[in-house]
Amino acid sequence: MNVRNSVVFVTGANRGLGLAFAKAAHALGASKVYVGMRNPEGFEAPGLTPVKLDVTDEASVKAAAALCKDTTLLVNNAGIVSLMNGPLDSNMIELSQTLMNTNYYGIIRVSQAFAPILAANGGGAFINVLSDATWLSVPMLAAYAASKSAAWSLTNALRLQLKPQGTHVLALHVGFLDTDMTKGFDMPKSSPDVVARKVYAGLEEGALEVLADEGTLQVKSTLSSAEPVYFNPPSF
Ligand SMILES: NC(=O)c1ccc[n+]([C@@H]2O[C@H](COP(=O)([O-])OP(=O)(O)OC[C@H]3O[C@@H](n4cnc5c(N)ncnc54)[C@H](OP(=O)(O)O)[C@@H]3O)[C@@H](O)[C@H]2O)c1
Repeated sequence: MNVRNSVVFVTGANRGLGLAFAKAAHALGASKVYVGMRNPEGFEAPGLTPVKLDVTDEASVKAAAALCKDTTLLVNNAGIVSLMNGPLDSNMIELSQTLMNTNYYGIIRVSQAFAPILAANGGGAFINVLSDATWLSVPMLAAYAASKSAAWSLTNALRLQLKPQGTHVLALHVGFLDTDMTKGFDMPKSSPDVVARKVYAGLEEGALEVLADEGTLQVKSTLSSAEPVYFNPPSF
């Protein structure tokens, strides 16, 4: 599918990767770009239409879908992270529930609300923002990684279910990005603008998955080996 002339809706688009997806879609000639955000007050950016959206609130998701019935490309980007003391952290269950509510149930709510809209508009596409943590978990990111693994599994089922209605489902896996989420962490980070462009290029070529950086490519390449990277991550 082409971004040009599409009607794009990006969740969590007031900053970070979501805003990069929205700006890139506008620059590539999307006919409309809805930017979903929890607090649209005061948000202004040329060519972007703010829409109130909290992916943890079903009524909010349904209201956004009702307003944006012309959407043809939905980017499930909204996400949160929380660092912890590993799976044995006394808050592990509570943190997991919070992260799952946004990173996993959030995608479910948005997909259920927008899949019929994409079908009515000829098929369109979902882009689901996942992570290299889908395949590589470390203790301090245990709950986050579990939420992304769950979202990956969901993405794969969604792709099969939506094929008959002509909706393409693309998964983005990416390592550290230069956004607020990684502020204060000193490590190599990809540019969100470059990643957004790469994902749209992949979409236009019909890719089902985009591995946006060298580290993520390496992680995936070890998965079927006898020593997959999650046995012994280099930075752990
Ligand atoms: N940064 C990384 O290194 C990295 C790596 C791999 C994957 N990712 C994924 O990339 C996506 C974007 O992350 P980012 O790096 O851009 O993070 P970010 O800078 O922290 O931005 C997160 C965005 O999600 C929004 N959001 C959070 N909860 C929401 C909710 N309940 N409803 C609607 N919007 C909500 C935030 O809105 P508010 O401003 O209201 O908080 C914000 O716009 C996430 O799915 C993240 O897991 C990030």
